[in-house]
Amino acid sequence: MKQIAPSILSADFAHLEQQVDLINRSEADLLHVDVMDGVFVPNISFGFPVMQVLHQYSTKPLDVHLMIVHPERYVERFCDAGAWSVGFHLEAVDDPLPILQLIRDKGVRTCLTINPDIDPQRLLPYLDKVDMVLLMSVFAGFGGQKFIPETIDKIRFIHREIQQRNLPTLLEVDGGVNTTNASTLFEAGADILVAGNAVFHAPNPLTVIQQMKQ
Ligand code: DX5
Ligand code: ZN
Repeated sequence: MKQIAPSILSADFAHLEQQVDLINRSEADLLHVDVMDGVFVPNISFGFPVMQVLHQYSTKPLDVHLMIVHPERYVERFCDAGAWSVGFHLEAVDDPLPILQLIRDKGVRTCLTINPDIDPQRLLPYLDKVDMVLLMSVFAGFGGQKFIPETIDKIRFIHREIQQRNLPTLLEVDGGVNTTNASTLFEAGADILVAGNAVFHAPNPLTVIQQMKQ
């Protein structure tokens, strides 16, 4: 499955409705929503007022990526705010299982994510307990960073595990994705690619999304 999730973080917030509409008209599969708290990551993005606008205007499912400490305090609110999936960082919590359950109880898809300095082995016990895993291919916190090439082996590793265990778990990759590396990442086993700058800073975002899916 080749899916693209443009990250609204890179959009022009002065024209948020039009930017969402642009993605609505595109071949994108999801709309990726990056929430940062200034504590787990050294940056602050946006919260519920923006989520409300996205939910109101987006025809694409909202793929929420929480880069926050204490995700257990907020996952239910993001579910209620219209999330299609809610993901949080494994390294931000002691035990992800009760938090995954909070999300699941809301009927929303679960996602566990790790930064590039976290051993992907740590995801293995949870592969059959989540709908998706997200491998960060840059350090969470900012759009527009350079793709870390070592991620490709991690994609292969997690993909192999998912296949061997015959799991329906989807593998998402986030950070520094562009039209040049997208096909390599899909070939390595990614199901969903997040792309911020490559989409929103392009002269023709619709074409970029199309090209990435080829
Ligand atoms: C980084 C975010 C990413 C980011 C992707 O903290 O999680 O989703 O917005 O942006 P690009 O594609 O520009 O690296
Ligand atoms: Zn993200």
